[in-house]
Parts: sequence; C-alpha cells; structure tokens
Amino acid sequence: MLHSKIVGAGHYLPERVVTNKDLESLMDTSDEWIRERSGIEERRFATFGVDTTANMGTKAARIAIERAGMTPDDIDFIVFATLSPDYYFPGPGVTVQKELGIKTVGALDVRNQCSGFIYGLSVADQFIKTGMYKTILVIGSEIHSNGLDLTTRGRGVSVLFGDGAGAVVLQAEQDTTKGILSTHLHSEGEFSDVLCVKAPGNFKEVKFYPGMLEDFDMIAPVMDGQLVFKNAITRFGEVITEALDANGYKKDDLDMLVVHQANLRICQFLQRQMRLPDEKVYNNIQKYGNTTAATIPIILSELWEQKRIKPNDLYMLAAFGSGFTWASALIRW
Ligand code: UT7
Repeated sequence: MLHSKIVGAGHYLPERVVTNKDLESLMDTSDEWIRERSGIEERRFATFGVDTTANMGTKAARIAIERAGMTPDDIDFIVFATLSPDYYFPGPGVTVQKELGIKTVGALDVRNQCSGFIYGLSVADQFIKTGMYKTILVIGSEIHSNGLDLTTRGRGVSVLFGDGAGAVVLQAEQDTTKGILSTHLHSEGEFSDVLCVKAPGNFKEVKFYPGMLEDFDMIAPVMDGQLVFKNAITRFGEVITEALDANGYKKDDLDMLVVHQANLRICQFLQRQMRLPDEKVYNNIQKYGNTTAATIPIILSELWEQKRIKPNDLYMLAAFGSGFTWASALIRW
C-alpha cells in the first residue's frame, strides 16, 4: 500500500502583533499572569478587510505548494480544518479552491478544533493510501480574535488564543518506510460542554433567540481550564505512546515532538515526562498563543524554513482539544 509524505509546508500570520501589555488595557489581566500560567508573550490578531480564515489558508497553501516544487494545478483534493470559518456555511475549503483557481477539485472541511489538523492529515492519508488521490493540500487556519470576549469577563479564555494559518502538501510515496507511519484519532463527547461555543445553534428552539448577543456564555468560548489541562496531560501521553507502540519505537527514537500549543506548561510537562532534550521539542506558543487547527502546520513550516527537518527524522505530532478530541501522527521524513 502507498504511504503519504509531506512534501511542502507553509504558514501565514496576520501582521498585527498583540502583546500581553496590549491586553492589559482591555481587561483586568497582567503580562505576569499570562506568561506564568500559559507561557504566552504575544499573539497575532487578524485585520478586518485584510485577513479571512480562507485567504490566510490560501496564503499558507501557496507557500507549501511552492516549497513542494508544484503548482496549484497539481492539487487533487483539499482538506481544511478550522473552528472559525468565515461563513456559517459553506466551509472555507471551497474558497481556497476558488482562490487557488484549481478547477473543480473536492474540498472537505474538518471540525475537530485543536485536533483538526491531525484529523485532516489522517483523512488525507487514507485517501492517498487507497489510491483515490495523489496530492492533497491539508490546511489549518483560524481567526479567533473576532469571536473572543476581550473584556475581564472573558479573560480566562481570550488571553490564550491567536490567529494564524498553516498548510502542508501530502503526496503519494512508494517507499513505505517513509511518510506518515500511522495516525491515531480519539474523542470523548461527554466533555463537549467543557470547551465550546454554543450559539447560534440548534440547542435552542430558535437559533437566533432574543438576547443572544448579550448571552456571553453562549456566544463566546467557555472553558473549564483545569479540567481541560488534566485531561490534556493524560491523553497526550496515551496517544503518543499508542503511536510509538504501533510502530515499535521508543520515545528516545524520536527526533522531534510537535505538540499542539495550548499551554507551555502542558508542553513542558510532556517533555519532562518523556525526558526529551530541548532540541527535540519545538514550542512557539510564546509568539502566537493557541492557534488551534493552525498550530501544528505553522510549526512544521517554521521547522521547514529553518531547515531543521532532515531526511529520515522521526517526528511525533500530537494534539488535544475541544470535544474532547485528541490525536497523534508518527512521521518518518
Ligand atoms: O486548546 C484547547 C485546550 N486548552 C487547554 O489546554 C487549556 C488548559 N488549561 C490551562 O491552560 C489553564 O487552566 C489556564 C491557563 C486556562 C488557567 O490557568 P489556571 O492555573 O488553571 O488558572 P485558573 O483558571 O484556576 O484561575 C486562577 C485565577 C482565578 O482567580 P481566583 O478565582 O483565584 O481569584 C481566575 O479568575 O486567575 C484568574 N484569572 C485571571 N487573572 C488574570 C483567569 N484568567 C485570568 C487572566 N488574568 N487572564
């Protein structure tokens, strides 16, 4: 059976840098609190009229395609992961298809929040393995800033998130010792209310109900941070071990651990637990905050730019987030 290989990675970040100090002027928070609890120093916020979830994804995709030595016409299929689409429907995948000007290729939108990119990668991997498509674009893109409650009421969530986009090109690979070795996907819907935005939605008799715009617990993200934190640590460990075991590897075999950037303390806990040296872990939450589905492809693109990805390197990708959903992917470059 064919394998699929990442042959290009790109990212795009909105220009506007928002520091913790900037947030201090909007709400009762402090640079010290945000750094201590999350590791975040600044994040990017989209500019209205310039950035959209789809066009940021397209910009990241163009770079990924160019780095793959391809043109948009080489793309057979698009997978787009986001929790912050431009329209309620359709999802942004079709806009990317239009913006790239690529005929009528299929576009699939994935809604798995922080795990969205790995879920998308897994779907694309299955399409390639079965021979249905040869070259697939997988994108993660988010504009959170537009929906955050940037007042003291929303500070428990809003200081954590940022905007950005990342993309990879996956291509069929004959050598089955290379590429995506396995993906592992999980969910636990009993925690769906623990980190969510509910409105507008069908949990009400009328989707756009009177008073909705003042109902901040419904229209802005809510999160039980400590419960998410505890579950994240457990599930990250499990899904990483699952991927290593499935392929007969030990944690020392890894060249790089790329963990979804939700909180630097979670990433550092995992690093200590796995006894990995600093050069085998890549964190960028300090600069971008939590960019949800975009986080992992942004990291892959930064590593690509820095020429740190070497042939034969073994990479572990892992994510956990709203749903709860969690996932891992083991990759041999
Ligand atoms: O990508 C999705 C996955 N998300 C995650 O993985 C997030 C996981 N959870 C976390 O990262 C942490 O739980 C947080 C960073 C969200 C919060 O850290 P914490 O140590 O769990 O703090 P806390 O929620 O227990 O809040 C401690 C205090 C509270 O005040 P009191 O009740 O002790 O007086 C909060 O009201 O900090 C207060 N607080 C803030 N203070 C200043 C909450 N947010 C802020 C803020 N600035 N932004």
